Amino acid sequence: MYVYLDDRLVPADDAKVSVFDHGFLYGDGVYETMRAYSGVVLMLDEHIKRLFRSASMIGLDIKKDAGTVKTAIYKTLDTNLLKNAYIRLTVSRGYGSIGLDPELCKEATFVIFANEFRAYPEEYYEKGIKLIIAETRRNLKEALNPQIKSLNFLNNILAKIEAKGKGAYEALMLNSKGNLTEGTISNLFFVSNNTLCTPSIDCGILDGITRNVVISLAKKKGIAVKEDKFGKEDLYNASGVFITNSTMEIMPVCQVDEVEYTVGNITKLLHTAYKANVREYIKN
Ligand code: PDD
Repeated sequence: MYVYLDDRLVPADDAKVSVFDHGFLYGDGVYETMRAYSGVVLMLDEHIKRLFRSASMIGLDIKKDAGTVKTAIYKTLDTNLLKNAYIRLTVSRGYGSIGLDPELCKEATFVIFANEFRAYPEEYYEKGIKLIIAETRRNLKEALNPQIKSLNFLNNILAKIEAKGKGAYEALMLNSKGNLTEGTISNLFFVSNNTLCTPSIDCGILDGITRNVVISLAKKKGIAVKEDKFGKEDLYNASGVFITNSTMEIMPVCQVDEVEYTVGNITKLLHTAYKANVREYIKN
């Protein structure tokens, strides 16, 4: 396996980052997770746009343009002979002496690695997965905006630990006002009175790329979409629930806390539409 490090591909064993890297010391950096289908990186422009937005929100200069980043991603896939892949692109503040001042780091560290895509078990899609609503609240958007896809993941990890402790796959977090936000690595959708509901961006969530695709597919299919503030009870009373991200696509949910759900028709219809959309995308 070859890893893209700074400006070249190196064997994985040589892909090393300093212990003085501020990504390691402070979680100071940003990242993107992408998925390639048949050699095509889905929604690549959108991922790159969000990468640069995250970097700009933390005052991080990647010192590469979008074209160079794209080329680096495809080089990583080609060198590793990958067509269907999980891709992780990480940019940290870089090497620097101890201290929070970003100017201590002269050059960002830029890393891309990709692996053969490992599909989630088919059973998860057929039956759904179990979620909890965590006690851990989502970072306040006024403190650390979830729209920054940052390396600083402890908020999500604390919620994930709660999920694991309760035998659940994913944890949903409320914001400080008690509104639903998102999962630790996913966005949330649920169906209520045939309307597709999802927490709005201002609840303090990452504007997931899959989320945007799902919203536009739903609208195209004539399904009403409501982006709004919702509470726990709205979710408990839903007729169907699913979560989304770039690797899992649309993942049905069979349980949130003590409430059980079946995999609903809207969930199935949207996943079929999503897969068709992927096929269309990779053709063009
Ligand atoms: N996670 N919300 C959070 C907190 C996330 O970390 C992610 C993605 C999403 C969904 O975003 P998208 O649809 O653009 O993948 C929502 C990725 C998959 C990860 O952490 O690896």
